[in-house]
Amino acid sequence: MKAAVNSRYGGPEVVSIQNIPKPAPKDEEVLIRTYATTVNSADWRIRSLTVPTGFKFLVRLAFGINVPRNQVLGTELSGIIEAVGSKVGKFKPGDAVFADCGTSFGAHAEYKTMPEDSAIALKPVNLTFEQAAALSFGGTTALSFFTKAGGIRQGDCVLVNGASGTTGLAFVQLARHFGATVTGVSSAGNHTLLRQTGAHHVIDYQAEDFTKNGQSYDFIIDTAGTAPWKRAKSSLTKTGALLAVLGPVSDMLKAAIVSRKNGRKLIVGTTSTTGSDLRMIARLALSGAFTPVLDCVLPVADIRAAHERVDSGRKTGSVVMRFEQSRPAAHDPEPFQTMELANVVQHR
Ligand SMILES: NC(=O)c1ccc[n+]([C@@H]2O[C@H](COP(=O)([O-])OP(=O)(O)OC[C@H]3O[C@@H](n4cnc5c(N)ncnc54)[C@H](OP(=O)(O)O)[C@@H]3O)[C@@H](O)[C@H]2O)c1
Repeated sequence: MKAAVNSRYGGPEVVSIQNIPKPAPKDEEVLIRTYATTVNSADWRIRSLTVPTGFKFLVRLAFGINVPRNQVLGTELSGIIEAVGSKVGKFKPGDAVFADCGTSFGAHAEYKTMPEDSAIALKPVNLTFEQAAALSFGGTTALSFFTKAGGIRQGDCVLVNGASGTTGLAFVQLARHFGATVTGVSSAGNHTLLRQTGAHHVIDYQAEDFTKNGQSYDFIIDTAGTAPWKRAKSSLTKTGALLAVLGPVSDMLKAAIVSRKNGRKLIVGTTSTTGSDLRMIARLALSGAFTPVLDCVLPVADIRAAHERVDSGRKTGSVVMRFEQSRPAAHDPEPFQTMELANVVQHR
């Protein structure tokens, strides 16, 4: 089968399309034929070893000291179940699914085996395979951080810094869906997109410093890494929370102490995704509350261009790669369901 293989750490040039053995499902596993996958910021971090200071050795320990142990990247995919192991009861051949492989990666391949109890769920029927492949990374990160912070409520004021990326756009859409007043921070060129996806207010970070505008927020979400605790805390309400999706190591170290001492909270950490998380995000997608925004859809042959786009740090939403395989027409939604996001997302 075809796969995008990165035989060493480095830039996009270390990735090439190669033929590798097709896996066979074990008793409790399903074999998924991949129709679409994404290149995301997790792939960029591990491929290039771009990790916070002090973490590089730990990441090498986990992923391979000199060369990557698992040479196929990719955390998200959508496709069709092609075969199931003898003990699988939840899925059957022909099911259209999307999945999150997490830190085991391997989604940049024509086929992927996964335990049936891992992060796999049926594809929402109103999304294309390209959209479904991009559901998990942003969607489950947003749900997980809101949950860690004790939940978001109707009427909360939410500011999303880095609002036009994969995770930022998920936070914008879901915060709006849960009834919050949403402010999105991005460059001015992405403001139309932010408004279309649910932001009530927008701020151009090149023209205005949101920490100096006199506003207070119940949640400040930082996916850009430019709003650490020191800078953002005075813009939080007395019980507000900074959700540091990307934050400095110093914030990670002091999060527990800061949150205990203050009425305000600092929420840090990583997310790991389960099948139940995916079913929740699928329900939100089905209801129109969350539709992944696609920066571009490229054939898998353009894998290096996909990595370059992610490396730019300026993508809007997700970079999707499509495996050129024949698809049963019944699995993709009618054309009217793939209209522009602005027409699909339901706003309250
Ligand atoms: N903790 C976790 O569990 C977790 C989970 C997922 C991701 N992450 C991390 O979160 C980060 C974001 O991931 P992502 O996939 O959402 O990234 P992404 O899609 O690459 O985000 C790119 C966006 O960041 C915006 N941006 C760049 N500089 C900015 C600035 N100074 N101020 C505000 N916005 C700025 C860009 O907007 P403009 O083009 O408008 O500038 C661009 O749209 C990554 O570092 C990733 O590793 C952490």
